[in-house]
Amino acid sequence: MISQSELTHACSILAQGGLVAIPTETVYGLAADAENESAVAQIYKAKGRPSSHPLIVHVASAEAIGAWTRSEHLKEDIRKLTEAFWPGPLTLVLPKSSKAGDFVTGGQNTVALRCPSHPVAHALLKMFDAGLFRGIAAPSANTFGKISPTSAQHVLDDLGVKPEGRADLILDGGPCEVGVESTILDLTASPFRILREGAITGRMISEVLQKEVIHGAIGSSPRVSGSLKSHYAPEHPVEMVAAEDLAGRAQFLARKFKTFALIAPDSPVKRFSKLAVSSRSYQSVQELQTHLYGWLHELDRSGCDTILVVPPAYSEEAAAVLDRLARASADRGR
Ligand code: TXA
Ligand code: MG
Repeated sequence: MISQSELTHACSILAQGGLVAIPTETVYGLAADAENESAVAQIYKAKGRPSSHPLIVHVASAEAIGAWTRSEHLKEDIRKLTEAFWPGPLTLVLPKSSKAGDFVTGGQNTVALRCPSHPVAHALLKMFDAGLFRGIAAPSANTFGKISPTSAQHVLDDLGVKPEGRADLILDGGPCEVGVESTILDLTASPFRILREGAITGRMISEVLQKEVIHGAIGSSPRVSGSLKSHYAPEHPVEMVAAEDLAGRAQFLARKFKTFALIAPDSPVKRFSKLAVSSRSYQSVQELQTHLYGWLHELDRSGCDTILVVPPAYSEEAAAVLDRLARASADRGR
């Protein structure tokens, strides 16, 4: 899918302080050398992201944790978590070592680490690591506040490639399988705290650690920028509607000469597809999670006034997708 020479090229761009958009199993990331201050500054600039928002440092393996953190006291829990979930969509927040500069941690005394499982990200990290545990800082490869990209095309449409655009290179590793950002687990909190919901659920983590974990970012601090209320928002308003209220909502919009696009389980889509400008149906939470951002990207351009979404019922597995839907539909003062 991606040749060795493309990987070498990407690696040399990173080594020279450039920006490479990379596929991961969750979403595409905008990568730079995590130890290069001016390269990291370029990430913030390209995204238009406030520099107080810390970045995740991506590493080639769990061995790098010792270099990037001071976490001897958490060794057993880290071993259990990394054996169970790395490489994969779990980010660990740990006390930082001096290798993690303030410019990447937003001045905090902790650092967020993740080892992605996507073969392209993994191969690039292995090459870049060079036996020195070098890491790659990579936020989602979207303009601040926009929907995260789950394909190379999304990155091209949003950030683009230099000279007109903002990335030096976009590596196309196909569509992202997980579809929502990694679970963020803060191991500096007691009990451990999930700061962002993702595909690795609280229950999965508790089972591995044999201890309780709690959910939710503390207060309204923007430490996790994805925790801002109206993050991940498309241009058009997104509304969550129960299946039984869909008919009423569709009528209401029609009376106002407003059009809608629809994301829903199969049967409501069958009933309402003629009324909708465009529609996408899902059969499982998994299917919705994988495609949610892609569908929001597409439907946002379908010429509709509003995107209606019939969400799945609450379950541990649906927590991440419900969280992103809630943020996408948060009132943005329209
Ligand atoms: O799946 C993912 O995690 C993707 C892919 C590219 O790996 N990355 C991603 O990065 O979602 P980003 O920057 O869009 O979100 C990272 C989140 C931010 O909300 C940030 O505030 C939080 O991680 N974060 C980073 N360092 C942190 C720290 N030391 N303490 C608390 N939160 C932290
Ligand atoms: Mg993001």
